[in-house]
Amino acid sequence: MEKYRDILERAFSAMDNAYAPYSNYHVGACVKTKDGKYFIGANVENASYGLTNCAERNAIFQVYSQGYRKEDVEAIAIVSSGKTLATPCGACRQVLVELLNRDTPIVLSNREREMVTNIEELLPMSFTSDDL
Ligand code: THU
Repeated sequence: MEKYRDILERAFSAMDNAYAPYSNYHVGACVKTKDGKYFIGANVENASYGLTNCAERNAIFQVYSQGYRKEDVEAIAIVSSGKTLATPCGACRQVLVELLNRDTPIVLSNREREMVTNIEELLPMSFTSDDL
């Protein structure tokens, strides 16, 4: 896990930026690109609840907005303030299956527990552009 300490700590810092007045549940994310750059995201909620953006989507969208693509991504950390070790929501999994490689490390932490997974494990048998 020590090799992911850089993205985990940046994700925890990003979590402090969460705008979550409705759920009070704070999430942070950090993507590291292979050229050594970091892109952070936090969840940003809305009074019209469905317009909420999750932390990991905000982070990966920044990566793509800067012109990077899936092959440029080294790893992503996603951290939360909850009692459980939360995994990405279904909507985020669908986004990540398109925007990450199948085996890109997805590092999860809530300080008490940590694990490394990938989108193939989180969203097997997914619907993708290969099906169109
Ligand atoms: N949330 C994330 O940011 N990422 C996830 O994968 C799960 C949920 C946010 C959305 C909302 O602001 C809060 O956590 C509670 O659902």
